[in-house]
Amino acid sequence: MENFASSSLQKKKFIIFGGGFSGQFIANEIRKLGGEALTSSRQLQNNSNSFVFDSFSRALPSEHIFDGTTHVLSCIPPDKSGKDPVLSRLHKKLKSLDLEWVGYLSTTGVYGNTFGEWVTEKDPANPLQDRSKRRLLCERSWLDSNLPIQIFRLPGIYGPGRSTFESIFKKNIKVIYKPNQVFSRIHVADIANAIIYLLKINNENFKQIINIADNYPTSQIEVIEHSYKLLGLKMPEPMNFDSAKKLLSPIALSFWEENRRVSNRLLCKDLGYKLIHKNYKSGLKSCLEIIKQKNLK
Ligand SMILES: NC(=O)c1ccc[n+]([C@@H]2O[C@H](COP(=O)([O-])OP(=O)(O)OC[C@H]3O[C@@H](n4cnc5c(N)ncnc54)[C@H](OP(=O)(O)O)[C@@H]3O)[C@@H](O)[C@H]2O)c1
Repeated sequence: MENFASSSLQKKKFIIFGGGFSGQFIANEIRKLGGEALTSSRQLQNNSNSFVFDSFSRALPSEHIFDGTTHVLSCIPPDKSGKDPVLSRLHKKLKSLDLEWVGYLSTTGVYGNTFGEWVTEKDPANPLQDRSKRRLLCERSWLDSNLPIQIFRLPGIYGPGRSTFESIFKKNIKVIYKPNQVFSRIHVADIANAIIYLLKINNENFKQIINIADNYPTSQIEVIEHSYKLLGLKMPEPMNFDSAKKLLSPIALSFWEENRRVSNRLLCKDLGYKLIHKNYKSGLKSCLEIIKQKNLK
């Protein structure tokens, strides 16, 4: 990371709602660069950087959590009614803070099915799945919130501890062949790095909605094949999509109903962000190195 970030994140306090996979990773990167980052979870954690927030609980985070907060990031998905869990409980509180920036992790599901065509932020949202319709409602609530909001639309997130390797090890991988089907993806390190990069350049060129995706949308089978190759294992025979359908959960099936290539042109060309992992090969290599390092310990 460039030097600017460490100087610019010192004295900044981030509250990250939803300390799940991405939230924890982003919090760690912020801390490495000198910022303070607290993350929420629904259960009490034995960790002084964590606090409890559950949108369904009557209790709200204590006042001291918000003291000195300059930045807020929400990584929490919509609730079942399409309400945003953070805004529905804490909008007034967030408005009362002197926030420099608010970020929201959304999904590229809001674009719906483009039958394999590229989508950019300029394309109208056209959600197909109910969960993506709820997501768009949340995006709109954030845009209407009168907070300094920036929305990041993300495709499939992977990274250390959440990649095809884990599915292969757990033996729950499904090797499915569906002609012409592609998925876009993003390594979690690029979500964190891109957000930190944008915080630096926002004053010059602020964009409210930004896709964060790698350069190379491709089929799931290509990624799985490469993962087996890196492990030196033989990939099982692929199932064709029609036979695989009955084995997939409704949610898994819904992902196969959409086919789109997510453009990162705004982020990488117009705004000048350099991806750490331009494609899944680079991202998987890094995930495997981390697995190997852990196994050596
Ligand atoms: N996973 C993907 O491939 C993907 C792709 C595109 C976009 N996204 C979106 O990007 C965001 C981050 O994704 P992720 O995979 O990193 O998330 P994740 O690991 O599933 O974490 C979600 C977080 O939200 C918290 N949460 C959920 N419901 C809540 C509620 N009602 N009240 C308070 N907290 C609640 C969870 O709390 P606990 O820690 O207590 O469980 C968890 O910390 C999410 O909005 C996700 O939908 C994900």
